[in-house]
Amino acid sequence: MISVALMGHGVVGSGVAEILTTHKQKLFASIGEEIYLKRILDLREFPESPLADRFTKDFDQIISDRDIRVVIETMGGINPAYDFTKRCLKEGKSVVTSNKELVARHGAELLQLAKDNNANYLFEASVGGGIPILRPINQCLVANMVDEIAGILNGTTNFILTKMINENMPFDDALSLAQQLGYAERNPEADVEGHDACRKICILASLAYGKHVYPDNVHTEGITKITLEDVEYAASWGGVIKLIGSCKLLEDGMMDIVVAPMFVPCTSQLANINDVFNGIMVRGDCTGDVVFYGKGAGKLPTASAVVADTVDCCKHLKSRKYLFWADSTEECVADYKLSKTQVYLRLLADNTEDAYNKVQEKLGSVTKLSKADAPANELAVVTDKALPYGEILDAVDSLTQDGIKVLSNIRIGNL
Ligand code: HSE
Repeated sequence: MISVALMGHGVVGSGVAEILTTHKQKLFASIGEEIYLKRILDLREFPESPLADRFTKDFDQIISDRDIRVVIETMGGINPAYDFTKRCLKEGKSVVTSNKELVARHGAELLQLAKDNNANYLFEASVGGGIPILRPINQCLVANMVDEIAGILNGTTNFILTKMINENMPFDDALSLAQQLGYAERNPEADVEGHDACRKICILASLAYGKHVYPDNVHTEGITKITLEDVEYAASWGGVIKLIGSCKLLEDGMMDIVVAPMFVPCTSQLANINDVFNGIMVRGDCTGDVVFYGKGAGKLPTASAVVADTVDCCKHLKSRKYLFWADSTEECVADYKLSKTQVYLRLLADNTEDAYNKVQEKLGSVTKLSKADAPANELAVVTDKALPYGEILDAVDSLTQDGIKVLSNIRIGNL
């Protein structure tokens, strides 16, 4: 019997407790031993739980219990999860987590601590919920140079965009619906401003390229400025708007990494990932594109990944899993203004023909997009050539000075 502890009995944590109970025999068959959930740390009371006698409010009951070899952290947030995780790893206890904020902020340090103490720190559930993605990158695709990773990494924003695209629902209504259905938090900022997707692409990039990428170094845009007009122009271009987290390795070893809404062509597999689902494309030099699809959030999908890591830790109590990346002492993220991209621009101008000529003077040739019922003073274009994003921003400033209002500026994803 292997004793484990759970810290945090919220949505994911209660799912972990549930799977450890309902799938006991299945897990026994995989390990050859029982996983015994000995303690559950939470400040709240759960008198109705069948595991009520295992609850504690005292972390010491976990850290000082030598029987407990694996600790599952599903508390979320930085503190006290960070402190508790460090203390567990220093005691040689392996730690499993779904906490993407903690991994994105302190992953390198915690992985080093795990290494120093011959323990494991595993976090499959932190990206893509129930979708296997970290283990495939770290193991199954390890023979590849990963040229690029790009994905729809946030279910809430994908739900909102899907409603806007398929049902013509305005952003605010789609967000309210996402909140009613329990996908979006009452404060939806982390999702709609792209921070959640940013943490996830940082974890993927760190793992694929072996250097910690800190969220603060990644240019991040959310979806709050996307309008139904943009959605319609994307359709007339032949695509849909998706919030994409992407990371490419440049020739000089730097990472070109960004989180932003993008036009995605209908021919891309990522264009057909809808509702709260996530999809992640890994472009390997040997495999070509490999796409992972599934439920990126939710109680049981996320708990499934957490329990799988727990099983892995139980199978490797005396050995390490070699999931590792180093801290990045020097800058490893390229300036986003140097990143080349095509863009879609939506403009308002008194004279759209004059505006069309001015756009071409500044950005080279562009292709006009059309939309039924477009106002006479609106112009929508896509640049024909990819340009450094900084040059596009300069052109937008210059157009504004010429009295042309730039309403939208959305990257074209090469996906
Ligand atoms: N808020 C996240 C999402 C939850 O919507 O994808 C899973 O990380």
